[in-house]
Amino acid sequence: MTSPIKSVTTQDIIRMKQSGRAIAMLTAYDFPTARILDEIGIDAVLVGDSANMVFYGEPNTLSITVDQMIYHTRAVARAVKRALVIADMPFMSYQINADEALRNAGRFLKEAGAAAVKMEGGLPILPTIRRAIEAGIPVMGHLGLVPQSIHRFGGYGVRGRTEDEKGFLKESAVALDEAGCFSMVLEAIPADLAKEISQSVRIPTIGIGAGAGCDGQILVTNDLLGLFEDFQPKFVRRYAELARVMRDAFARYVNDVRERRFPAEHEMY
Ligand code: KIV
Repeated sequence: MTSPIKSVTTQDIIRMKQSGRAIAMLTAYDFPTARILDEIGIDAVLVGDSANMVFYGEPNTLSITVDQMIYHTRAVARAVKRALVIADMPFMSYQINADEALRNAGRFLKEAGAAAVKMEGGLPILPTIRRAIEAGIPVMGHLGLVPQSIHRFGGYGVRGRTEDEKGFLKESAVALDEAGCFSMVLEAIPADLAKEISQSVRIPTIGIGAGAGCDGQILVTNDLLGLFEDFQPKFVRRYAELARVMRDAFARYVNDVRERRFPAEHEMY
């Protein structure tokens, strides 16, 4: 159901948690997808650095640049009239120091039309997050499986299974809330831990592979549509099989051209 909100703000996202309304988010990287998401009343659109994998075909998210993310964010922001547009800060665009992070984060609002940015990580990046928020840039946190640290952890497995990891995640979540983040992604952590974290913070948690106890959910749109077929994590629900639909449509077109059935009379001037 479409919400009556005219233009979703970060404060609306916080109020959704307070009123118990589950927050629905998806990723987008292009104008047509973003326009459809906005039309059906999605609450927020994330221009994820997952673009590097599902759009550019890279094996991980690491190599996408700020300029590439700005290009995609601009296309999405141009399409979206109502939803909140959040841009993912790419790897090494915010880790070096808070000044550089602030400069890069600012570009997403000034040049690309995003209303907020997302940064991966917990306690270690708090000074950077605080600096951006103080400058007026809303920040979404991201805890659990943080894909930009793939080489540190050696894979995309579930996080938060050990007592040490649980403690770090719980502490980081509270710290992100206290630092002024307006929400946080919880990725690939056990459902009971995600529920406990969600109940311990004032800001909404948006889960991906983190169970039903989160305040909202996000999926990578290409996964949901069945467009990215390389692998399917357990938490992905496919609502369509678009790769199959596209293959069939392209094959029928090629066949029609070869058999001289396209164009027909009514398709000519
Ligand atoms: O890059 C992305 O799409 C993300 C989501 C998976 C949360 O960070």
